[in-house]
Amino acid sequence: MAGIVTTIKDLVVLVQFDSDSPEVDEIIVADNERQTQLLVDHLNPGGMAFCLNVRSDHSLLKGDSVQRTHKGIEIPVGEITIGRILNALGDPLDGQDPITGDDVRYKDILKLPPRSNNFSVSKPEILETGIKVIDFLTPFVKGRKIGVIGGAGVGKTVTTMELINNTAKGDGSLSFFSGIGERIREGHELWDTLRENDLLKNTCMFFAQMNENPVQRSLVGISATAAAEYFRDEKHQDILFFADNMYRYIQARNELSTILDQVPNEGGYESTVFSDVKVLQDRLSSNENGSITSVQTIYVPADDISDPAVQFIQHEMDSIIVLSRKVAEQGQRPAVDLIQTNSSLLTPEIVGERHYVLSVQVQALLQKYESLKGIIAIIGENELSPADRADYAKAKKLITNFSQNMNVMTKHNGVPGEFFSREETLKSIEEIII
Ligand SMILES: Nc1ncnc2c1ncn2[C@@H]1O[C@H](COP(=O)(O)OP(=O)(O)OP(=O)(O)O)[C@@H](O)[C@H]1O
Ligand SMILES: [Mg+2]
Repeated sequence: MAGIVTTIKDLVVLVQFDSDSPEVDEIIVADNERQTQLLVDHLNPGGMAFCLNVRSDHSLLKGDSVQRTHKGIEIPVGEITIGRILNALGDPLDGQDPITGDDVRYKDILKLPPRSNNFSVSKPEILETGIKVIDFLTPFVKGRKIGVIGGAGVGKTVTTMELINNTAKGDGSLSFFSGIGERIREGHELWDTLRENDLLKNTCMFFAQMNENPVQRSLVGISATAAAEYFRDEKHQDILFFADNMYRYIQARNELSTILDQVPNEGGYESTVFSDVKVLQDRLSSNENGSITSVQTIYVPADDISDPAVQFIQHEMDSIIVLSRKVAEQGQRPAVDLIQTNSSLLTPEIVGERHYVLSVQVQALLQKYESLKGIIAIIGENELSPADRADYAKAKKLITNFSQNMNVMTKHNGVPGEFFSREETLKSIEEIII
């Protein structure tokens, strides 16, 4: 028995089924020329399916009949997708051949993989990023998550691109990139960067930028995750995963909840949004089959780091690189706030005794620098004790030492990029503070 479209309100479509109701997360298809696809969001007991018009197809009419497909959103996965750019629904965006054929494998993006229970953590493996401040304060550990967080224009995208550039080259592991709700041109820039560095052959990209509807913006991170899971679970590979910007995922989920007429919760966010984020973050993890190492940018609306969504995603990360407008204005690149940036992976077991002890000394010196700055503002630098003055000078040197030129900026500013091994970074810091 077909369903009948009873209400169309923006992207929300209500379809009445008198029998054989569809499942939640099933795609149902209208009997019209465009075969409008609707995603079942939830059902009420009377057989009314609350659906989302995934492609914003306006040809759908009230009274149209709709058929079940018994399938969810299925995207192509596997080798055939490597080097390609796809949208949230798995359609190519790169103008190249369609991804079809008998040997193409498909994966339902909303179907959760089986939970693994017997995953034992192997010895942590540090991947060098070549970016001094990151390798020193927020070690990039295989299978873990780094959040790059900051307000508009402070360098989240540039930092992420540099991380892709510097880490993806290393061991030739597969990278997935998910562009969520950001500027369209950034997709082109990323593609250019990957091509210039011969990284396209190891990368698959998914985009739903700010011009796309909230359904696709809310799905694209999930599609990229599902594609990465395939390689982790079926091919037992280690994966690098980059998302710009995870905040836009929350925003899109929130837009959808609002149009689906739920009651808003604390801080202007719908409560279900946070459980959605949790589900996605749990999928972006490592298991006995392979690892997913992720870098996720997090936009901070109105530079307000206490925003509930920002706080929530932060807690899902192992390391947080905080980028700050104040630091950027001082000409420091990357504009990392050295005090707020933190990592639960900065332990002697992971980074080693030498690095760990040095990091404790650096943090103490930076804290002292902050308080000395306040004193200097009142009494002037000359009034400090010789020891304080020496520490103040050391801290200043240290901060400057954390500035470096990025490879991905070279084509914009003509300045060659720099890459430092962790050993070089540690040495440069020891030379300053010991
Ligand atoms: N490490 C860097 N070195 C040199 N310039 C940089 C660096 N990081 C950022 N910039 C400059 O700042 C601009 C904005 O950076 P970026 O696009 O990365 O910000 P964003 O945090 O991603 O902003 P949005 O929230 O708008 O996406 C860049 O176009 C570049 O000019
Ligand atoms: Mg950006």
